[in-house]
Amino acid sequence: MLTGIKGAIFDLDGVIVDTAQFHFLAWKQLAHKLGFDFTEVDNERLKGVSRTRSLEILLEIGNVTVSEEEKLALATEKNELYVAYIQELRHSDLLPGTKELVEALKHNGVKIALGSASKNALFILDRLGIREWFDVIIDGNSTSAAKPDPEVFLLGCQALGVEARNCVVFEDSAAGVEAAKLANMKVIGIGHIDHLVHADQVVKSLGELLSLRL
Ligand code: BG6
Ligand code: MG
Repeated sequence: MLTGIKGAIFDLDGVIVDTAQFHFLAWKQLAHKLGFDFTEVDNERLKGVSRTRSLEILLEIGNVTVSEEEKLALATEKNELYVAYIQELRHSDLLPGTKELVEALKHNGVKIALGSASKNALFILDRLGIREWFDVIIDGNSTSAAKPDPEVFLLGCQALGVEARNCVVFEDSAAGVEAAKLANMKVIGIGHIDHLVHADQVVKSLGELLSLRL
């Protein structure tokens, strides 16, 4: 499956650690405050997408219009709610199979990058104690265009010194799968096929990949 692969780019939220549930809870709280409900189905549209773009989608869903100043305040409020949830993350919160997969890839000479939209990525990697796993870290602070724009993955493969066609991306979001395909990379979707139809392969978790031949 991974023949010819020289670089692996991991999304963070929902792939390495289940912070996707905390993003959802924080957005849901904000939606309730604004007077509308926000479901897990709605949330699929926000996965992988930057904080600013996520807020715009949320406001569209609720049919709410606010000023640019209010948008900034709402994005800050959502982040404060979210950051409160992630304070207690620890190494044991790594999703099953993550460590073993990274070790197997490294053992096969594959370089490892993080390709995340989050501006909280370094904080989370440090809470998990895994920052040193990565040869390269591209996060929401190093990109200017949100997934599905391929920028985050293209920067990742450039920094790894690997050609896009020799890279594999692990992603749980539709926007991220689209970004990886636009970057001409192989993409393994983590989650349910319904949301990840354009992935080259979909598995329920990284752990499931270990039972396949790399
Ligand atoms: C992505 C998440 O990884 O990061 C999105 O899937 C989130 O849900 C985005 O909006 C930005 O994260 P942050 O931590 O910078 O608000
Ligand atoms: Mg994700």
